[in-house]
Amino acid sequence: MKRTELKKLYENPAGFGEVTVCGWIKSLRAGKGISFLSLSDGSFFLPVQVVVEQEKVRNYEEISGLNTGAAVCVRGKVVLTPDARQPFEINADDVTVEGVSAPDYPLQKKAHSPEYLRTITHLRMRTNTFQAVFRVRSAAAQAIHRFFAENGFVYAHTPIITASDCEGAGEMFRVTTGEDEEFFGVPASLTVSGQLEGECMAMAFGKIYTFGPTFRAEKSYTPRHAAEFWMIEPEIAFADLDDDMELAENMLKYILTALLDECSAELKFCEKFYESGLTERLQSVVRSDFVRCSYTKAIDLLERSEEKFRYPVYWGCDLQTEHERYLTEKVFGMPVFVTGYPKEIKAFYMRQNDDGRTVAAMDLLVPGVGELIGGSQREERFPVLTARMTELGMSLDDYDWYLDLRRYGGAKHAGFGLGFERLIMYVTGVSNIRDVIPFPRTAGNIY
Ligand code: 4AD
Ligand code: MG
Repeated sequence: MKRTELKKLYENPAGFGEVTVCGWIKSLRAGKGISFLSLSDGSFFLPVQVVVEQEKVRNYEEISGLNTGAAVCVRGKVVLTPDARQPFEINADDVTVEGVSAPDYPLQKKAHSPEYLRTITHLRMRTNTFQAVFRVRSAAAQAIHRFFAENGFVYAHTPIITASDCEGAGEMFRVTTGEDEEFFGVPASLTVSGQLEGECMAMAFGKIYTFGPTFRAEKSYTPRHAAEFWMIEPEIAFADLDDDMELAENMLKYILTALLDECSAELKFCEKFYESGLTERLQSVVRSDFVRCSYTKAIDLLERSEEKFRYPVYWGCDLQTEHERYLTEKVFGMPVFVTGYPKEIKAFYMRQNDDGRTVAAMDLLVPGVGELIGGSQREERFPVLTARMTELGMSLDDYDWYLDLRRYGGAKHAGFGLGFERLIMYVTGVSNIRDVIPFPRTAGNIY
């Protein structure tokens, strides 16, 4: 008999008579003649209770002696239990042990600290928290692909090994074979962003997005920075900064709507353990218009605030997480686009504004996280771009291919990067990036 996933069972328990379910034992209460197994199979947030009666199964001793963590397959009847906590249970006719579990299985009933669970990344995904977070993560990724597919975007695969530093922040991991000779003939690194290649694709397809792993060798020991993370980078041709923000807002609302719909059990769990009022917050974000605020205005708001900041605030400073969170949490109470940053603190490719001091950049700041998205309109004017690159001491030769996009039909265009892990932190209320990545990589740690 084929196995039935718990998700399917929960959708319509009355529609099943006899089923086979397979999963891992979360807890076992063994009694005289009757035992109760709580079984999870990963397809759904809730486990199923299996009732094992000694007189019905051939191997009662074996079953009642199992440890938590063991893998079993149960054939039995679905019994509706309208008066119990769970809507149904399974009365076992046969239980097959797929794999026993040693008695020192680390995930016993008691709650474990996130720090301890990070030392057993290979097992922690079996806990309720990580079942919730990683299923939300999966659903969010699928919703993002759906959003772009429905809106006519081409999904572009940009390279992971690259010879150019997109952000110019010097945070690249070198790729070498360990021998003297450069494998590619030139120094190569892991990508910090697929944007530059994404721009090439946008200048051919009009609307593209990338969704891939991204690497940054920044030694930031913060709960928001990982050395390996995933980024979503749409790039749109014939579009300016306003179009870019509109796209970002629509995308984020689409994702939240999808998750509220598909992951309500997971979000309810997160609400209970990580952030009270979570679902209501997400719903209200979907309903409201995001704020747009200039960098200059933001600096003014920060300077006037009574809040004691660790980092000084002045026009020209880069916003720190404490500033970002103050703006989005205390001043506006919702997501806010900050636009028009000083050119000195932003990347070379951003389009210069007429004031000569600022660029057409936008960061989307959200409560609990700070910067979720960074984007801009791109400098499409050949002379302005090359002048800026020269000013920054960049080699025009190295970026010749990028400059070609301005030589041959350089159109107005814009894009942004959404940090996927930060999105998952934002929607689940989980406050450490290490706990939204199955196998996190951060400075000093490769779990
Ligand atoms: O602001 P960033 O550096 O922008 C870019 O890389 C642009 N090339 C994007 C574009 O316009 N196509 O990074 C974009 C987002 C940030 O807003 C943040 O959410 C996330 O990527 N991010 C990180 N997430 C986790 N760990 C890190 N070390 C991150 N660095 C950036
Ligand atoms: Mg940024």
